[in-house]
Amino acid sequence: MPAFPRFTPLISALPATVPFVGPEAIERNRGLTVKARIGANENGFGPAPSVIEAMCAAAGETWKYADPENFALKQALAAHLGCKPENIAVGEGIDSLLGLIVRMVIDPGLPVVTSFGAYPTFNFHVAGHGGRLVTVPYANDREDLDGLLEAVRRENAPLVYFANPDNPMGSWWDADSIVAFAGALPETCLMILDEAYCETGPAGAMPAIPALIDRPNIIRTRTFSKAYGMAGSRVGYAISTPETAQAFDKVRNHFGMNRIGVSAALAALKDQAYLSEVIGRIRGSRDRIAGIARANGLEPLASATNFVAIDCGRDGAHARSIVDGLMEHGVFIRMPGGAPLNRCIRVSTGPESDMRLLEEALPKVLKSL
Ligand SMILES: Cc1ncc(COP(=O)(O)O)c(C=O)c1O
Repeated sequence: MPAFPRFTPLISALPATVPFVGPEAIERNRGLTVKARIGANENGFGPAPSVIEAMCAAAGETWKYADPENFALKQALAAHLGCKPENIAVGEGIDSLLGLIVRMVIDPGLPVVTSFGAYPTFNFHVAGHGGRLVTVPYANDREDLDGLLEAVRRENAPLVYFANPDNPMGSWWDADSIVAFAGALPETCLMILDEAYCETGPAGAMPAIPALIDRPNIIRTRTFSKAYGMAGSRVGYAISTPETAQAFDKVRNHFGMNRIGVSAALAALKDQAYLSEVIGRIRGSRDRIAGIARANGLEPLASATNFVAIDCGRDGAHARSIVDGLMEHGVFIRMPGGAPLNRCIRVSTGPESDMRLLEEALPKVLKSL
């Protein structure tokens, strides 16, 4: 290791982790072409035409920085959600907000509770700030609320992360269970309730916004990347008490939001008719994926998200060979990282052309194994 530049001991000790290998890297590294991009839980149905129009209109203004206070977007989100603009912090996607939250509450060595095999970008941020991950296994393919609570109490943890609905399994808890979990948490523990997939879940899975908004130790994170179809625009937001929301101002990148993305988010909020239509298409696509899985003797798991986890009935190596085999046919999917979740593959919803490619390739891959 060269003496300069001098990195902190923490950074020097960290591996150069890439939490996700993107489809572009797979194309480059394996000389393959992605024909069906149904692995990253993006929304292949795309953003609303009105959103694309707003982005085109904003393109000529891109020489200007976006408003560092994100005033208009906070106003619009507050009106949409039924809370105050002060309850909202805006960031470059949930991923960026997760990093800021960890930075705000974690000193090196402090315990951070999450589920084993849950969203890996969170773990990446915890490692980057020197936190000590304490993981709780899933129970019946759902995040184990009792187990998470027990781990928080045992470790006296200042931070717990939980996604509802969940990635990578697509499972969910009902609103009452989430509210009960939040109520049982020690007030010394900050809870990140990641609601990246809130729009595609069943009615009743999401606590109403006022239910948790007065709790200083709860931050809910949401995004325009999934149902709104704007993953490349990097617009996310957090909902919390005004005091907690304000803390983001101490550490956030004030000019981090891109002007075209913010215009797109404003337009997307206005076009709720398109959102409803897309949610219908996502639900239809979930059924289509489940049908393809069953036709191939595999077991789809119920999903509240824009993807379906499919139990392939064996171990991680078997699921990996299906993921790799599908990519040979140009079908990009992913799979959960740790056992026993890694007996599954994970397929994002998408347009019928993508579903047909999956339908054609999957039996060929299974036969070849
Ligand atoms: C649970 C969860 N949180 C956050 C994200 C990322 O959201 P964003 O694009 O807003 O950073 C994802 C994307 O896959 C996710 O599954």
